[in-house]
Amino acid sequence: MTDRQAMSESPVSPVDVATLIKGRRTVDHFVAGEVPPRETIIAAIDAARWAPNHHLTQPWRFSLLGPKAQQAVVALNTGLLQASRGAEVAEAKRERWSQMPGWLVVTCEKTNETQRAAEDYAACACAIQNLSLYLHAAGIGTKWASGAITREPDFLEIAGADPAREYAVGLIWYGYPKRRPRSQRVALETIIRKCE
Ligand SMILES: Cc1cc2nc3c(=O)[nH]c(=O)nc-3n(C[C@H](O)[C@H](O)[C@H](O)COP(=O)(O)O)c2cc1C
Repeated sequence: MTDRQAMSESPVSPVDVATLIKGRRTVDHFVAGEVPPRETIIAAIDAARWAPNHHLTQPWRFSLLGPKAQQAVVALNTGLLQASRGAEVAEAKRERWSQMPGWLVVTCEKTNETQRAAEDYAACACAIQNLSLYLHAAGIGTKWASGAITREPDFLEIAGADPAREYAVGLIWYGYPKRRPRSQRVALETIIRKCE
């Protein structure tokens, strides 16, 4: 550890942090029937809430969905898909969603102030990243979903949220990854501007 690291009181090296961040992937397929321990998820939420948030609004809430709530979301989604895309698509999604092991909904407090709304959403996104990284370090994968169902008032109510006061930032599935997905990014030079 360098002197500067010691002074910053950072317990981990920058290389370890980068390795953790770069190793996290959106996981599409989880080991069926294996739900990670509740205390690990609570610890991840504890880490999540240390995300930066302007004016300390702490606009997030985390809803842990149990089996009954999960089934209600699956049924709601199946109904929506039957109407919009037909029975076959709806049935395929019903089957897939029924196998998702862990379910968490992150909501954000609504506000009429435009700037605050943007900043609160940003804070919730940071919190979800914290949560995902914590779980990744614990060997647990996550998938952040923001499909049409998350904008349904009924979805929020299943998650114990008040649609008049909150909106969903994401439905987060979590579990043990079945396989390690790939992802990519454009070359670093293409996203950096050096302004003299
Ligand atoms: C705000 C937000 C919403 C997302 N919504 C979805 C979604 O609805 N469905 C999905 O498959 N992935 C969703 N993702 C995950 C992205 O597709 C994923 O992060 C991207 O493919 C890059 O993969 P990686 O996370 O493994 O790097 C979402 C990610 C973010 C940040």
